[in-house]
Amino acid sequence: MDARIPVGVLGATGTVGQKFIKLLEDHPWFEVVELAASERSAGRPYEEAVAWKQTTAIPAPVRQLELRPCIPDLRCRVVFSGLDAGVAGPIEDSFAQAGFVVLSNSRNHRLDPDVPLIIPEVNPDHLGLIPRQKQIRRSRGYIVTNSNCSTMFLALALGPLHKVFTVEQVIVVTMQAISGAGYPGVPSLDILGNVIPYIAGEEEKMEIETRKILGRFNGETVDLADFRISAQCNRVPVEDGHTESVSLKLARKTSVEEIAEVLGSFSGPPQELRLPSAPERPILVTAAQDRPQPRFDVGLAQGMAAVVGRIRPCPVLDFKFTLLGHNTIRGAAGASILNAEMLKAQGYLENRSC
Ligand SMILES: NC(=O)c1ccc[n+]([C@@H]2O[C@H](COP(=O)([O-])OP(=O)(O)OC[C@H]3O[C@@H](n4cnc5c(N)ncnc54)[C@H](OP(=O)(O)O)[C@@H]3O)[C@@H](O)[C@H]2O)c1
Repeated sequence: MDARIPVGVLGATGTVGQKFIKLLEDHPWFEVVELAASERSAGRPYEEAVAWKQTTAIPAPVRQLELRPCIPDLRCRVVFSGLDAGVAGPIEDSFAQAGFVVLSNSRNHRLDPDVPLIIPEVNPDHLGLIPRQKQIRRSRGYIVTNSNCSTMFLALALGPLHKVFTVEQVIVVTMQAISGAGYPGVPSLDILGNVIPYIAGEEEKMEIETRKILGRFNGETVDLADFRISAQCNRVPVEDGHTESVSLKLARKTSVEEIAEVLGSFSGPPQELRLPSAPERPILVTAAQDRPQPRFDVGLAQGMAAVVGRIRPCPVLDFKFTLLGHNTIRGAAGASILNAEMLKAQGYLENRSC
């Protein structure tokens, strides 16, 4: 008998939804039994409704699954959500109210004071918001979110630095991949041979979500981390992988070598617990002077690590470095799956009816 936990994917036809399906194929703990999307797709077999854009075939067990509408009557109690942000808010609410554990990728609930915004290596204690959320909302289920894709790599890298040196100021400039805009995303005539210096809402998300993730859980809610951060976000003609140029000011004096050591040796509960999707090291530090580059480095650690390079002094703030991560894996679906693994490891999935 398969003892895996049955799960569903909301927004299963989208860029993030497809990545969920690919990453959950043969997952040791979770089995995809339900797929849901919009009314446009509902009722159709998955392989007919989806514009499959992964480099591996659609996993056999889901090819013929009939897509369901996003109504909370699915035959599972855990759902991964890759829903369009225009509709995710109320749909995710309705699933949580009905007793589902919702692992959301959308912006809608990330900043709700009772919703954990989690990177399990950095702020696993924020999961303490779950009982409070259920109490406040009188819901049987609950919502756990992961951050915006570019925030993920910044907050993952800043996590250990903030703990050891206390971050005081951050300036970040991103070069974000096209797949970050979903499918079909940015028109080719807009992005080929071009850079678009605007991604709606992205700078605001980076500036606030980073401070929530690095904030302090006070037993009731999260006090935002007390540092200033300025983000500038650009869309570039890269398929997968967000690159970020980061400058930061630290309260404690340190050196390039010590920063490299703190980042490269960092690990957290997912590594200690040997969670199935946890990378051996969540941050990989490269000494090569022209790396990381998305073409060569985005697939390191199966896309689950942040890659840091070019750590050097900054004449304006204290230090600067380059950061890279896979936006649809650690920046989206892989992050949600790691969150679900963390929930299971901490006993939050034990009562399947929540
Ligand atoms: N792409 C990334 O790198 C990334 C990273 C982090 C977070 N995110 C976030 O993840 C979410 C999904 O992004 P994406 O890039 O995967 O978008 P996407 O490719 O546009 O996919 C959106 C999904 O939402 C479904 N949907 C749309 N309208 C719906 C409705 N009225 N009812 C139910 N389902 C509906 C679509 O189903 P149909 O096919 O039936 O229309 C599709 O499955 C967004 O909130 C995004 O901000 C994306």
